[in-house]
Amino acid sequence: MARLCQDLRRVPLCAGSQDPRFTCLIMVNGTTGVIRFENVGMRYGTGPEVLRDVTFELPPGSFHFLTGASGAGKSSLMRLMYLAHRPSRGLIDIFNRDLSTIPRADLPALRRQIGVVYQDFRLLGHLTTFENVALPLKIKGASEGMIRKHVGELLAWVGLNDQAHARPATLSGGQQQRAAIARAVVTRPQLLLADEPTGNVDDAYAVRLLFLLQELHRQGTTVVIATHNRALIEKFRHPVLHLEDGILSRVGEDPVYDG
Ligand SMILES: Nc1ncnc2c1ncn2[C@@H]1O[C@H](COP(=O)(O)OP(=O)(O)OP(=O)(O)O)[C@@H](O)[C@H]1O
Ligand SMILES: [Mg+2]
Repeated sequence: MARLCQDLRRVPLCAGSQDPRFTCLIMVNGTTGVIRFENVGMRYGTGPEVLRDVTFELPPGSFHFLTGASGAGKSSLMRLMYLAHRPSRGLIDIFNRDLSTIPRADLPALRRQIGVVYQDFRLLGHLTTFENVALPLKIKGASEGMIRKHVGELLAWVGLNDQAHARPATLSGGQQQRAAIARAVVTRPQLLLADEPTGNVDDAYAVRLLFLLQELHRQGTTVVIATHNRALIEKFRHPVLHLEDGILSRVGEDPVYDG
């Protein structure tokens, strides 16, 4: 985490996605995906399928945008990926394990390897901004000194130093969103799933937050960002997974992750 913040300090706000620090990809030759879906369907209760025959793989160290109209199924796909919902059919492999064979008791440990930015933030209302961001580090057993240092640096990066002791109810939507992003990246998870993470911030902050996620990716995290923001997709130029009425297609070829 220290490196994440140190590296970011050297990045000017206007740095472009051509910056060589952001084009270094992770070696994955011979390894299988962080997540693999095969013919996955999903429904809520007894309702119709909202995802149909979804097949894709996320190579380790990959970065994808996830696009699609409102209601196309982006958040539903995210829910499957962060193990909050089971598929109604098909196969999901996560971290090389078949989800259908994973005992319920093992799920919390798997989830701790996944950083999630929820579309509705889900900050804990009784904790301050600082405490919300610190929580995943606390759960991992980090020392108080480490927590103070890393959380402080991240809050500075997302522009929330002045709100460190405020509770979520007193923050604006954009401030809550920035806190939710800081919380999702603070442990440097293996997989980062961000559901419309810049929907509530202005363009300059959207780019700044994308640099944070891009730096996390550069350090090895596999990233998926659901977004409607075309400008970000064009600026950062990662492959796009597109959903239309629950059916997933891929736009553009994946780069070769050959480090
Ligand atoms: N908890 C739920 N119970 C029942 N149906 C749901 C639930 N959540 C979503 N849906 C339905 O699933 C479909 C996909 O919704 P989802 O939230 O995944 O779309 P989305 O692409 O994330 O949309 P948005 O861009 O508006 O966030 C929609 O038809 C929606 O009505
Ligand atoms: Mg959504």
